[in-house]
Amino acid sequence: MARRKLVAGNWKMHGLASDIAEVSAIAESAKEYGEVDVALCLPATLIERASRAVPTFAIGGQDVHGAQKGAHTGDISAAMLTDAGAKLTIVGHSERRTDHGESDAAVRAKAETALASGLDVILCVGESLEVRERGDALAVVTAQLEASLPTNDTASFGATGLAVAYEPIWAIGTGKVPSIADIAEMHAALRGRLVAAYGDAGQAVRILYGGSVKASNANEIFGVDDVDGALVGGASLKAEDFLPIVEAAAGR
Ligand code: 13P
Repeated sequence: MARRKLVAGNWKMHGLASDIAEVSAIAESAKEYGEVDVALCLPATLIERASRAVPTFAIGGQDVHGAQKGAHTGDISAAMLTDAGAKLTIVGHSERRTDHGESDAAVRAKAETALASGLDVILCVGESLEVRERGDALAVVTAQLEASLPTNDTASFGATGLAVAYEPIWAIGTGKVPSIADIAEMHAALRGRLVAAYGDAGQAVRILYGGSVKASNANEIFGVDDVDGALVGGASLKAEDFLPIVEAAAGR
């Protein structure tokens, strides 16, 4: 099945008002690649400013609470994200799972609430180095996906409302990338689980790869079956690093 590629940047805890010019530069250049979806998931403090600067470009959050509202100091709700102009949000990034002890059940609740509120969702899964080295990556990551997948009616979020990002923890920010065969094996397994969960609609869910994606490896990674784009950290902070990845996704 042909799926439109999605290249999303995750700025993590980087970015001040002075960086909005970089967001604008990325959004402006991304217009040249109409065959690819491009998004930037920014720190919460920049979402509204960025959305005003580039109103037609997809700005996203990096986390959302599973509850609609309530006594949750420091958290951000789906309504707050959409109110600020966000079109999407990441949920279940390994840095949230590790730093904040987020369970699969919490990640599922976040995804369900975000989708029900009209936000698109990038749901992250991935294994530690220890799990990869003992040969359990497929079992652990597919179990993580099954336990975190939202149970919303797929018709309610449509073909592109949900994406899954496979991000091996040991590949994040390290310059290390799994072999092409390992990426292909994992993405095929995740596709199987998505189809088992959602039927035909599972064919439309995009599966992104994330972890040390750069201009130099993007072409090869995007050539893998069932790799439908990328979630990019460090290389999304500057237009000069990010745009070549978008170009690779466009197949140019
Ligand atoms: P890097 O691209 O910096 O390895 O980060 C990947 C990531 O965690 C994106 O969410």
